[in-house]
Amino acid sequence: MENEEKYEMSIRPALIDEYIGQTEVKENMKVFIEAAKMRGESLDHVLLYGPPGLGKTTMAYIIANELGVNIKTASGPSIEKSGDLAAVLSSLEPGDVLFIDEIHRMPRFIEEILYPAMEDFSLDIIIGSEGSTRNIKIDLPPFTLVGATTKAGDLTSPLRDRFGIVNKLQYYTEDELTQIIKRTSSVLETEIDDDAAKELAFRSRGTPRIANKYFRRVRDFALVEGKSVIDLEVTKKALDRLKIDRIGLDETDKELILTIIEKFNGGPVGIDTLATAVGEEVSTIEDMYEPYLIQIGMLKRTSRGRIATQKAYEYFEKNHQKAMN
Ligand SMILES: Nc1ncnc2c1ncn2[C@@H]1O[C@H](COP(=O)(O)OP(=O)(O)OP(=O)(O)O)[C@@H](O)[C@H]1O
Ligand SMILES: [Mg+2]
Repeated sequence: MENEEKYEMSIRPALIDEYIGQTEVKENMKVFIEAAKMRGESLDHVLLYGPPGLGKTTMAYIIANELGVNIKTASGPSIEKSGDLAAVLSSLEPGDVLFIDEIHRMPRFIEEILYPAMEDFSLDIIIGSEGSTRNIKIDLPPFTLVGATTKAGDLTSPLRDRFGIVNKLQYYTEDELTQIIKRTSSVLETEIDDDAAKELAFRSRGTPRIANKYFRRVRDFALVEGKSVIDLEVTKKALDRLKIDRIGLDETDKELILTIIEKFNGGPVGIDTLATAVGEEVSTIEDMYEPYLIQIGMLKRTSRGRIATQKAYEYFEKNHQKAMN
């Protein structure tokens, strides 16, 4: 296991009451889980969507844990053959959770095998080779599919419609992120001051994964400086060294906005052109960077391309060369 992964596992909450924020999602899930348990039935299929690092995988594990069932995991792009999916499906026990991450990247023909599995718990497969094929139908135990995606818009509607429960995860508030950082600090037995935790929360782009990642770096600085408690001073110093600016934007965020302002006169600029200009993949910009910049109102998506907003001009202290957007 990668170090990063091991770290994430160790600080990942295991119970729904330890999951901070996302109140609406959490309260609804509690009811659905409770009801499924009272009826002795499998939980309806659940779709979780939202930007990376907001807790989709964490929620999938919590659902299985709260239901008291096993979880089997797969990821969209790794299911290449119908046999791959058939193998996971037929290994399920009644009530189990099958977690498919990046479900929008599953090949279309695999998706079609999933439909009857989700709807009737049956697996229709073709066996044999050319000339002598036959269809067989295998009954599956009732199970719960938990699908996660950063791009709900990329799901086909027949797939989306088969999820009885659809949850959108939101960026976390500063308060919630502060609580997450406090929780991480107690799990890792490294104390952090309140104002340091707040500063870290403020600069973590509303994202627990980022908050936890920065926490680890700040902890390194504190250790090397011989500080037993993480304070505001060492937090600021570490984040500055990581080139995280005062509102939490990193180098790529800044480059994206400044490129639109300086090279494309504020936009609109097409996403492909922009990606080439900053040397990133289109999907990286769309999945990782853009959602937060849109959320804080620095970037706008229009049909003609991306635009840097008035707020972006003000923040970076740039003057408009043309009419305001
Ligand atoms: N609500 C929460 N409360 C406490 N910690 C959280 C919460 N949500 C996420 N985390 C922490 O943030 C980390 C990232 O969460 P997770 O891996 O579940 O995100 P994700 O949405 O699956 O991301 P990706 O889209 O990249 O797969 C986890 O290790 C977990 O510790
Ligand atoms: Mg995940």
